[in-house]
Amino acid sequence: VSLKPFNTFGIDVIAKEVYTANSLTDLVAIVEELKDSNYFVLNGGSNILLSRDIEIPVVRINFPGIEVLDEDDDFVWIKAQAGQNWHELVVYSLKHGYGGLENLSLIPGNTGTAPMQNIGAYGVEIKDVMVYCEALHRKTAEFKTFRTDDCQFAYRESIFKGALKGMYIITAVVFKLTKRNHQLHLNYGDILQELEIAGISEPTPIDVSRAVIKIRQSKLPDPKVMGNSGSFFKNPIISADKFAEVLAKHPDIKYYLLEDGTVKVPAGYLIEKSGYKGFRRGDAGVHEKQALVLVNYGSASGPELYQLALEVKQVVFETFDITIEPEVNLVPESV
Ligand code: EPU
Repeated sequence: VSLKPFNTFGIDVIAKEVYTANSLTDLVAIVEELKDSNYFVLNGGSNILLSRDIEIPVVRINFPGIEVLDEDDDFVWIKAQAGQNWHELVVYSLKHGYGGLENLSLIPGNTGTAPMQNIGAYGVEIKDVMVYCEALHRKTAEFKTFRTDDCQFAYRESIFKGALKGMYIITAVVFKLTKRNHQLHLNYGDILQELEIAGISEPTPIDVSRAVIKIRQSKLPDPKVMGNSGSFFKNPIISADKFAEVLAKHPDIKYYLLEDGTVKVPAGYLIEKSGYKGFRRGDAGVHEKQALVLVNYGSASGPELYQLALEVKQVVFETFDITIEPEVNLVPESV
């Protein structure tokens, strides 16, 4: 089976055996069957770079679903199944007038993997709206509930990438959203500017979503049109001293001061200043509008994209003496 339709990079690798879970019941049965062996779980495929054929069984999560668990005058608690497309969940919430997910509009992928790397955009992360998630242990097939505080969420990090890596499949996520008195996050990037252009002074969650969609579409490639996995690297966090050095040479760099005195700087900027924005070799490239995104122009292979990523990492290191780390998961990990 070709996995090309199931990963947003559009990499054509073959899986020997694919088990598709079309319901939670299916998934439990599959895990019961495979729990003593090694298997690979594939959900939205939006944050992976597949680099070779997969010999072990692939378990594909394919069950969407949204339900309201509870509500009062101010809040609503909604539960989304693991295979629920993320953006469709955002659209559902906005249609019903709920606030909380608007800044996370148009993020590719499904809900089940969103907590794994604590997806975030425009000043909001999933940790800000999630209440708990349910997960299935891959070896015991037992369910466990993880409250937000249990998940060790940090910038693109969680316990599921850390201490519990490879141990759980997230099966559903519960969110607490607002029905009124929405807490809008407007201070990130160009959101306010977009709202101003649209002539909106008292924005609703839908207005914010529209602004975010407009900004994203202006620089991020649509995976349906051009293969990609969003930001390929994480934005590096550097010491204050190191930052002072960078700022002296590059006074126009945007940055974000963290509480502990360290500074988060945009990897896209570093890559652009290293001369790699728009670089292309064969069908593997660095996106011309957002250097943090690697793209597949057609038939790039996993190793070709991986090679390019190493090169980008190397050139940023040589130019800035800063190490950038991938955000995208490499499959298998040792390429
Ligand atoms: N920049 C450049 N050149 C580039 C790209 C960016 O100079 O080629 C500069 C921009 O001018 C801007 C700054 O870098 O001053 C930040 O750029 P942007 O707002 O596009 O955001 P980012 O830091 O590159 C992060 C997330 C994105 C998220 C946006 C908005 C990471 C790894 N990426 O990107 O998330 O959408 O902020 O919040 O943190 C993703 O994770 O896949 C993703 C797309």
